[in-house]
Amino acid sequence: MLNSTIETILARSSIRAYDERPVEETKLAELKKAALASPTAMNRQNQRFVFVTNRAVIDSIDKAVVDGIIASGNAAFAERIRSRGGKTLYNAPLFVGIFSAPGHYAGVDAGIAVENIALAAKSLGLDSVILGMPSAAFSGEAGRELAASLGVPEGFEFTIGISVGYRATEKEPHEWDESHIIEVK
Ligand SMILES: Cc1cc2nc3c(=O)[nH]c(=O)nc-3n(C[C@H](O)[C@H](O)[C@H](O)COP(=O)(O)O)c2cc1C
Repeated sequence: MLNSTIETILARSSIRAYDERPVEETKLAELKKAALASPTAMNRQNQRFVFVTNRAVIDSIDKAVVDGIIASGNAAFAERIRSRGGKTLYNAPLFVGIFSAPGHYAGVDAGIAVENIALAAKSLGLDSVILGMPSAAFSGEAGRELAASLGVPEGFEFTIGISVGYRATEKEPHEWDESHIIEVK
């Protein structure tokens, strides 16, 4: 029953090291389509996708994430970042931030969109890692200013992000537990 969609789903894994090679414009266009094609509750499409390919801007977001986590005083979290080389966006050449208008399904809508982007990326020969941590960069007044500087309209809040690029490391897809499926026949 394997087809290319199932193969892509099964092959995706979180990659945390990237080549400098940029994502081609043609592939960026496909990723934008994958984002916009995502279903949303009541078709509200109440989210904005910030595609960042500017290295200096990506690095400034990364720094803001680390600063935000250190400022929050969460030592365990800070240690987790240090153990991953001190980078939260992993030097990928593309970061996509999904910003949502508050709503009951905002998180679900953004989650669907981020997986659409992840699978589209994998199908195009790219890899990715979904990122919740950047919320540390987009909280509070400084976070609001950072979002505004990226062109995010008032009223939209960071929900989830994703780094995308050509992998510089390998990682097997995660293992799963078949017992997590509950069958009612
Ligand atoms: C909502 C969500 C938030 C995540 N946030 C981060 C993150 O901030 N940093 C990170 O390195 N990985 C993050 N991940 C990746 C998970 O750690 C990863 O998906 C999980 O360990 C399973 O591994 P796999 O993606 O390789 O199957 C996140 C994943 C999800 C779904």
